Amino acid sequence: MALKLNLIAAVCENMGMGKNNNLPWRLKTEMAYFTEMTSRTLSDKKQNVVIMGRKTWDSIPSKFKPLPNRINFVLSRSDLDLNQYKDTYAFKSFDEMIDKLNNEKFQEAYEKIWVIGGSHIYKMCLDNKYFHRLYLTEIKKTYDCDIFFPQLGDKFVEVEDSEIPKGIQQENDVQFVYKVFETKK
Ligand SMILES: NC(=O)c1ccc[n+]([C@@H]2O[C@H](COP(=O)([O-])OP(=O)(O)OC[C@H]3O[C@@H](n4cnc5c(N)ncnc54)[C@H](OP(=O)(O)O)[C@@H]3O)[C@@H](O)[C@H]2O)c1
Repeated sequence: MALKLNLIAAVCENMGMGKNNNLPWRLKTEMAYFTEMTSRTLSDKKQNVVIMGRKTWDSIPSKFKPLPNRINFVLSRSDLDLNQYKDTYAFKSFDEMIDKLNNEKFQEAYEKIWVIGGSHIYKMCLDNKYFHRLYLTEIKKTYDCDIFFPQLGDKFVEVEDSEIPKGIQQENDVQFVYKVFETKK
């Protein structure tokens, strides 16, 4: 099975995506979209893998860890002990993680792969041969951020996806739109 890395991220108008190791905004609808997209499987016997960097893992409140109904992969160069967490794995390198995803036995356990941040992990995956799609929520507002989504450049093109909500979404005074990008053919 050829691996397909799907990235999912939310950015504001300056491409900011985080502040003080947290999200700069609180958008319940957008969070529900993230949960639905990363959790949904065709087979009820399988789960999706969510890949994240150690700082993103740290940013998730304890009561929500590991992200439920998903197989959690955490990248860290230090010795992370995640044994207390169900279906959660730590990897010291991207290649080590790819080996696990390519393992035939393990492939029976998962359906889709979702890369959920942060910035360094997105950059690695956008440049990777296994990159498949970027699901990007564009928030129509500027927030104070200290971490930014990598520059997309012109090698990506927006594509249609019938499974994502169309048009402008709104929560309180904040508008946002769900988009999907692939590499230009
Ligand atoms: N808006 C969004 O959609 C979104 C999504 C996710 C996160 N965020 C935000 O982004 C921020 C966190 O992102 P971040 O970019 O600062 O950090 P991050 O990518 O989540 O984590 C960085 C850490 O990942 C580990 N790492 C990175 N590359 C690695 C590699 N090749 N091999 C092994 N380990 C590797 C290192 O951990 P060690 O230091 O342990 O070695 C590194 O310090 C937070 O503010 C969070 O709220 C936003």
